[in-house]
Amino acid sequence: MSKYIYGVDFGTSNSSLAILDTSSNEIVKLFTTPSLLFFPEYQKSFKTFYFEVGHKAVETYVESKMQGRFMKSIKAVLPNPSFTKTWISNRTFMAEDLVALIISFLKKQADDFLGETITEAVIGRPVVFSKNPDKEALAQDRLQKAVQLAGFERFYFQMEPIAAAYTYERQIQKKELVLVGDFGGGTSDFTLMNLRPNATSATNRTEDMIAKGGIYIGGDNFDSKIMWHRGTPHFGRGVKEQFDDKWLDLSLSYFTKITSWEKMNFLNTLKMKEAIEKSYVFSGRDYRVKNLLTLIEQNLGYLLFKQIEKAKIDLTNSDTTNLVFDPQTINLNEEISIKELATTIIPLEVEKITAYLDDFLSRNNYTYNQIDTVFLTGGSSMVRPLKQQFMERFGAHKLKSGDNFNSVAMGLALSYQGFKK
Ligand SMILES: Nc1ncnc2c1ncn2[C@@H]1O[C@H](COP(=O)(O)OP(=O)(O)OP(=O)(O)O)[C@@H](O)[C@H]1O
Ligand SMILES: [Mg+2]
Repeated sequence: MSKYIYGVDFGTSNSSLAILDTSSNEIVKLFTTPSLLFFPEYQKSFKTFYFEVGHKAVETYVESKMQGRFMKSIKAVLPNPSFTKTWISNRTFMAEDLVALIISFLKKQADDFLGETITEAVIGRPVVFSKNPDKEALAQDRLQKAVQLAGFERFYFQMEPIAAAYTYERQIQKKELVLVGDFGGGTSDFTLMNLRPNATSATNRTEDMIAKGGIYIGGDNFDSKIMWHRGTPHFGRGVKEQFDDKWLDLSLSYFTKITSWEKMNFLNTLKMKEAIEKSYVFSGRDYRVKNLLTLIEQNLGYLLFKQIEKAKIDLTNSDTTNLVFDPQTINLNEEISIKELATTIIPLEVEKITAYLDDFLSRNNYTYNQIDTVFLTGGSSMVRPLKQQFMERFGAHKLKSGDNFNSVAMGLALSYQGFKK
């Protein structure tokens, strides 16, 4: 048996794999990739199937002028029973097949690095995939199938925020009561746990685990809200079209669809395009409705959301930024301030997350004062209005962070000893 095992964090936006040397209990290498897939429209052969993963997926998608199937946030599909399979060229893919492609991509890099095939791993999962027990079970089952398809034979599931706690535990000098907040692209997860120096290898941590919970709000939701408030007015929200002698707002469904680039695809049908074209004429050929048509016809959704994400990330370090998107005839340039982000764009999402947190603590009979440390991880933990809420509750001195994109994968691998009986 190999002395190496893997910790695998399949994330909504990014996935990582950590290699653990079980003899020294040290992480020896990390691999990370955006959780993206691209299948070109034209497949060269029936025998081999061509696709790209991660950064290369984006590159080839853009090079192909956004033709072909580009997939993002695949993790969100796991609990969705209405997604049974998807046709790509002449093949069908189930949710687990898609996930397996991403996990295999990381596994291959790690196996190549070690020069051996590793078949044992600790796999991360969010605290909740869905409140609905059937959907929850479906997601877990699909993830398990994906892990098997990727070539793992022995594997153990670990909650993502618990894994992050294990990573933080490596840094501590004394016993601490720690609240972990893991803010990703799709979910915000919490765990409350007693941590001790040198305890990660202890096999049974049940007594240290106090509580865990999570909600399905993450960075993708923040992006949608930026699109709603600062993007959709450039694509016709607020424009009126004439029916007989009345001027009415354009159909709201156009704008609810374009707040998520995946849903935007539903507008790319002949019927919908005809409807938008009519709206264009009836609006007196308003340039914003033309922008909507261009966005849909040219498949520009992903590129627009990339700019939205960039603006959000800029606001981590700057007080203002410009959301700029100007392909074709679209000319979008919106200044966004951190204050606007906090007070008009994402206040509801931040409030939902903090309301969940407050309820989580009070349900478990804990007050802010009793918590020694708050370990924040995940890309969205850098969103300032969210971080601000933690500062107000716990004080800046209690907030700690580490590697926002690899803490979970490392902790998954480090929690391996707990599964070995
Ligand atoms: N500097 C930043 N400021 C704000 N948000 C950021 C920053 N960097 C990344 N993000 C956001 O963090 C999210 C991705 O974080 P992460 O990689 O932790 O998620 P994930 O693990 O893939 O998702 P999940 O854990 O929900 O499955 C994205 O929404 C991304 O836009
Ligand atoms: Mg994550």
